[in-house]
Amino acid sequence: MKRILIDQAEIKATTMDEVVRTSLENGQARLALRRFALTANNVTYAATGFVIGYWKFFPSGVEGKGLVPVWGFAEVVESRTDSVTVGERLYGFFPLAEELVITPEAVGGAVIVDAATHRANLPPVYNRYVRSREKSARDEGLQALLQPLLATSYLLCDWLEDNAFFNSEQVVIGSASSKTGLGLCKFLAELAPRPVKIVGLTSEGNKAFVEGLGACDTVLSYDDIEQLEQVPSVYVDMAGNATVKSRLHTHLDNVLRHSSAVGTSHWDQFQRKQALAGPKPEFFFAPSQIEKRRADWGPGVIEGRISDAWKRIAEDASSWLDLRDHSGLDAAAEVYDALARGKANPRDGHVISL
Ligand SMILES: NC(=O)c1ccc[n+]([C@@H]2O[C@H](COP(=O)([O-])OP(=O)(O)OC[C@H]3O[C@@H](n4cnc5c(N)ncnc54)[C@H](OP(=O)(O)O)[C@@H]3O)[C@@H](O)[C@H]2O)c1
Repeated sequence: MKRILIDQAEIKATTMDEVVRTSLENGQARLALRRFALTANNVTYAATGFVIGYWKFFPSGVEGKGLVPVWGFAEVVESRTDSVTVGERLYGFFPLAEELVITPEAVGGAVIVDAATHRANLPPVYNRYVRSREKSARDEGLQALLQPLLATSYLLCDWLEDNAFFNSEQVVIGSASSKTGLGLCKFLAELAPRPVKIVGLTSEGNKAFVEGLGACDTVLSYDDIEQLEQVPSVYVDMAGNATVKSRLHTHLDNVLRHSSAVGTSHWDQFQRKQALAGPKPEFFFAPSQIEKRRADWGPGVIEGRISDAWKRIAEDASSWLDLRDHSGLDAAAEVYDALARGKANPRDGHVISL
């Protein structure tokens, strides 16, 4: 069974590894990964593997090397449980490997969870697998790519509304060209009435792409942060770039009502401890907002809203996204390498089939 190991101390370095298949115990099933997406989000899983705990999902058994999680579809190829049958397709969270052994437990509807003991204390959203009919390569690719990221964009929009936009006049979105960032711009743009302006911040080279989305009132490059209007603001940061954060906090200072740290797409420019003007950044963790909404609204409601929301934005994806299809784990290693080195083109959506 082939898999890609990431060097946990130097996450740009990967090794193709091959391990002997273990035989299944009673209650287990073997899933063969068939199709998955790779974006900056997966690089961030590696970069924050110890701090947030992403290395804990799929222990590699090799000191200093980890298996990075990906979202995608797998097929049940062997089963020693009544919870799943051979041939079924499941959508969910997988290691960057040809196969995963889980301990499936059906929990109702189309949902099963992996009841493996090492996953028991990890956020439940990552342990869920949803039975799925096999769809076209394009539909599966779009779901693997966009569902997890646009779900976060939707939850961010919901959380901003839930907090009355922190009485701000503008929401500034860092790394607005990322799929998570552009999704937030698009969900905010749908609001009517909308009490805030949408300001997209991005690299100079990605400015035209963000402008072309048509969702922002203003698009600024990181070089032009000092042109931000000094009005009550919320910063929602997908970039995690220490210099950008520092300049923005200094410029907005006491009109900055809230600073949300969502991601580190500029993972190599991130600094964990930083002295900043204005409010201390607070980490936004999408699974926590899901749990909050489950408590507020009862089970199933937030999941339904997320599902409608990401599909709505995905409908016009062909105007801002080019699906890039790749085949095989070797190709996945190349895509991961390009993403980790910041060579991503925001229009590209990389999908790997095995
Ligand atoms: N907290 C949560 O729950 C949560 C959930 C989902 C995603 N996220 C985070 O959101 C971020 C965006 O993820 P995504 O998958 O949506 O990204 P993506 O679509 O792959 O983003 C690509 C964009 O990221 C920037 N970028 C990527 N790598 C870079 C590098 N090495 N140096 C400089 N810029 C780079 C560029 O945007 P710009 O030029 O616009 O900066 C690029 O256009 C990730 O850090 C991800 O982990 C967090």
